[in-house]
Amino acid sequence: MCGIMGYVGPRDAAPILVDGLRRLEYRGYDSAGVAVCDGRSLVVRKAEGKLSRLADMLDADPIGGSAGIGHTRWATHGAPSDHNAHPHTDPSGEIAVVHNGIIENFIALKEELGAAGAVFASETDSEVLAHLVAQEYDGDLLEATRRAVARAKGAYALVVTSSREPGRIVAVRMISPLVVGLGDGEVFLASDIPAILHRTRDIMVVDNGEIVDVTVDGARLQTIDGRAVERDLLQITWDAAQAERGGHPHFMLKEIHEQPQAVTETLTGRLLDGDEVLLEEVHFPPGFARSLDRIWITACGTALHAGLVAKEVFEGLLRVPVEVAYAHELRYRDPLITPGSLTVAISQSGETADTLAAAYLAKERGSRLLAVTNVVGSTLSRTADDLLYTRAGPEIAVASTKAYMTMLVGEYLLALALGRERGALDSAAAAHLVAGLRTLPRVIEEALGREDEVRVLAEGFAGHEDAYFIGRGLDYAVAMEGSLKMKEISYLHSEAMPAGELKHGTLALVTEGTPVVVVLTQTATYDKTISALQEVKARHALTIALAYDDDTEIAKHADRVIRIPRVPDLLAPVPSIVPLQLLAYYVAAARGHDIDQPRNLAKSVTVE
Ligand code: M6R
Repeated sequence: MCGIMGYVGPRDAAPILVDGLRRLEYRGYDSAGVAVCDGRSLVVRKAEGKLSRLADMLDADPIGGSAGIGHTRWATHGAPSDHNAHPHTDPSGEIAVVHNGIIENFIALKEELGAAGAVFASETDSEVLAHLVAQEYDGDLLEATRRAVARAKGAYALVVTSSREPGRIVAVRMISPLVVGLGDGEVFLASDIPAILHRTRDIMVVDNGEIVDVTVDGARLQTIDGRAVERDLLQITWDAAQAERGGHPHFMLKEIHEQPQAVTETLTGRLLDGDEVLLEEVHFPPGFARSLDRIWITACGTALHAGLVAKEVFEGLLRVPVEVAYAHELRYRDPLITPGSLTVAISQSGETADTLAAAYLAKERGSRLLAVTNVVGSTLSRTADDLLYTRAGPEIAVASTKAYMTMLVGEYLLALALGRERGALDSAAAAHLVAGLRTLPRVIEEALGREDEVRVLAEGFAGHEDAYFIGRGLDYAVAMEGSLKMKEISYLHSEAMPAGELKHGTLALVTEGTPVVVVLTQTATYDKTISALQEVKARHALTIALAYDDDTEIAKHADRVIRIPRVPDLLAPVPSIVPLQLLAYYVAAARGHDIDQPRNLAKSVTVE
């Protein structure tokens, strides 16, 4: 996720671009840049680090020119650096692009362009787009861009400008968001409405597969294959704070709703035809997957809960023992980590001190270290032998939602890759899993569609002081995460445990009306978990079951039912967590808490 901007009008473009980028910094902030046409040539300024560095550069040495493009980056391909910062230009410097998203076939395109003599200045996937547009250019930027994107595969948004046609900008949306703002004799382009809302409230949303041709006379919208599109303007009435949160009252709710898009990004370019998966930064030595004798998973908090899901998935699919260890425990144990094992360290930030310490320990003991992380260039990613970036984009709310979701999806991808290399997954089983993964963005969307039902349920929950979450196997892992969400933002005392464990002690705490959430998606243990539900019901608990849409039995047992779309049981944690995130959110909202910054907590725990 990155933020992109464009401007054409009568005013100096650079300050307008920088101002818009500042409002898009939530989408990434590891480097920033602008390209402005001064009437004769393109002037590019870019710098690693926060936007303020670029702003200082421009203050010290301003650029004149009333059309330009800008970018604030969240690295996916190539570490944060000056040369990987956008905009990228073609070798002549006459064409500049900014890009948000991923070009899946960039390696093939680089090879093709390289064979024709192209030299690249960055490690990014984005730079190929500048070369492609230049190669296709014959005097019409719109047509050159159209032909260039026909050669690129992926989920992205792109903005292009050229000194050969000053005052013209072309932009394309292929899944990643893009909006146009129409002012009085000026036009703005941005990844998101908050960047330009203080400039204009007349917004045109660019749809997937559309291209827009922007000049000072306005914005002409077409489908990528050239059909003109008429789009009604939206009149946006949000205030500035609402706009920053995409119209949601809190970042947490915004991030919950971003999950379908985040998962799309996690999957982009990684699922190939049939049963194959491509993890671009995982390079196991030959024979490693086959000889692997143990997997260690280490993490903290929500990331640890994603690890609990991974344990079930890896053991089930790979038939290899998996140990999940809290990083703060592992670092002070004398664990039997041996060479030949794989350690998977999971961390959204890649900076959690305990997780880093456990990762160093695993490496010292000769284990191969694979990082599942969201932050490119983080300490963990620089320490690991192999990397799986989750691509959730910046997560602002302290309570993790979309980062957790993309960790889950990353783990399924890893299981596929290891399973194929290990020979533990046959082609049919892998193809089945690949097909299931492709449905996930839609499945999450459907789960989000039940938000109103969860909100009503939360009203009944908010007056309680204790809650319990139970489940078996994968459902237990989800129960753990649902319970943590509830605790950290609603401040309800909440405990999660395996469904069979309740009767060994905790049942003593269940009294009349105590809410007990029972996660019930695993067919193999369904009947056993129903028995646990009946046990708490017999103590007059308020039983809330989380079950598939097609479960016709559950309403006979539970007081309330939260429904999720049917998926293969192995993938159930993905839809299951959505209503539990929403439940925690609405309980906390009903209790009037500071949801994005809960008391005593921090987004990244960089101390022991
Ligand atoms: O950045 P990390 O994934 O390493 O962070 C680990 C935990 O601190 C984090 O998941 C924490 O539990 C979240 N606030 C939970 O929502």
